[in-house]
Amino acid sequence: MEFNVKSGSPEKQRTACVVVGIFEPRRLSPSAQKLDKATGGYISSLIRRGDLEGKSGQSLLLHNIPNTLCDRILLVGCGRERDLTFTRYRKIISHAVSILNETGSMESVFYLTELQVKTCDISQRIRHSIESAQNALYQFDQLKSKKDTTRRPLRKIVLAVANRRDLADGEQAVREGMAITQGIKLAKDLSNMPGNICTPTYLADRAIALSRVYANLSAEILDEKELEELGMHAFLSVSKGSRQAAKLIVMSYLCGDPATPPVCLVGKGVTFDSGGISLKPGAGMDEMKYDMCGAATVLGTMNAIAELHLETNVVAIIPATENLLNGQATKPGDIVTSLSGTTIEILNTDAEGRLILCDALTYCEKFKPDVVIDVATLTGACVVALGKHPAALFTNHKPLGHDLSNAGKTSGDRVWEMPLWEEYQEQLKSNFADLANIGGKEAGAVTAATFLSAFCKKYHWAHLDIAGVAWESGTKKGATGRPVSLLSQYIINHYHSAEKIS
Ligand code: BES
Ligand code: MN
Ligand code: ZN
Repeated sequence: MEFNVKSGSPEKQRTACVVVGIFEPRRLSPSAQKLDKATGGYISSLIRRGDLEGKSGQSLLLHNIPNTLCDRILLVGCGRERDLTFTRYRKIISHAVSILNETGSMESVFYLTELQVKTCDISQRIRHSIESAQNALYQFDQLKSKKDTTRRPLRKIVLAVANRRDLADGEQAVREGMAITQGIKLAKDLSNMPGNICTPTYLADRAIALSRVYANLSAEILDEKELEELGMHAFLSVSKGSRQAAKLIVMSYLCGDPATPPVCLVGKGVTFDSGGISLKPGAGMDEMKYDMCGAATVLGTMNAIAELHLETNVVAIIPATENLLNGQATKPGDIVTSLSGTTIEILNTDAEGRLILCDALTYCEKFKPDVVIDVATLTGACVVALGKHPAALFTNHKPLGHDLSNAGKTSGDRVWEMPLWEEYQEQLKSNFADLANIGGKEAGAVTAATFLSAFCKKYHWAHLDIAGVAWESGTKKGATGRPVSLLSQYIINHYHSAEKIS
């Protein structure tokens, strides 16, 4: 899909469809008013007759309207003007895009960008428009033998800005939106891929392929022998029960001042989590192919920032493995020594994410990072605590938490902070090793984060538990690509603040 920005009156657009908003109850948005005036009251007469109340979810497609240059006008219900949040705005965009795609308009000019959305400026409205439009049209049909093809698909959306002064900001928002949605698409495609195809080796191959697209991006893959030599026994304890070899994927994007310490992004890459010997129950186990969504979103973010040519340094570290079970698999009660030297009693083999992450986090020290952010579908308890709207944020450095919260607000890809108080450490005590890998029934998301924090004492660190936000279940089952938008925004902001200092 192609996106552009433009300023100009709706009645003067020579396009397949002009899209304008109608608020509840029966109130015209500014562009709908302009069209109404140009057409001698055509729109207001329809509305008065009761054809459209303006509730969100409603719409009306009009053809051959007098005194306009477009083939069609789409009136979209936007609900009450006062209640227009970014979530509702995104639903409105998504609804409009689906209608256009199904009714033969191959290009269109959107005036929905003029709507006043709570806390969003024009750049954010453009970014939300692009992300929501791409999301509405996304399909994962690579593995279907018969594809659903649209005869006349929507190919181009022009986003209107109020005046020429907004064009430069608008164009920048389009560039960011297109790069970020490209990253989101990569993350979704990798995540939706089934576990028999998306193995650790497959992820490594995709990282190498990505590094070949961008001159500033490189990829290095460590195999099990190298991980063994390094001493990553916590990581390797998870892959022991699998026939697929574990891989540590390291990608570098070094486009900033060589003296600037990098941001390290660490992504959990469990390509299938059966639970191991502590086997999971059968219902819904297919969704554990999504246990590599952290890895997928880190790769998606690398794609976005490389596409944007940001002048900054970012290193991605992805421990990739399956969590399966065979005669060699790790057993409850086994004790392993992590890369850091800390010994771990594995009381539950299903708490494997923290075992692969702790070694990856220790490995980060070698890059002398500015900050380290790990992203993981780490705990079912996180879904119980927060549901599917925010990712859980944990951090040992307040300013980093603040920056991530802000990036969440700007992008709409939100986080909510949870505590990392020392009192929780009590729950991870082991009679036989330095740490246990589970912390009992209470506060499961917090004890998992607390476990990780023991390996992050040497740098500023944040952990994002994305178990609730990374994919949708039920009839809409599919990856969301979250938090590519959040992480990309964080790095965009980080790069701007680095610029200001120098
Ligand atoms: N990948 C799961 C977490 C998960 C479960 C995410 C369901 C999304 C939906 C993780 O490896 C896991 O199994 N965690 C256990 C930890 C427990 C054994 C302490 C969990 O959450 O049950
Ligand atoms: Mn598990
Ligand atoms: Zn897992």
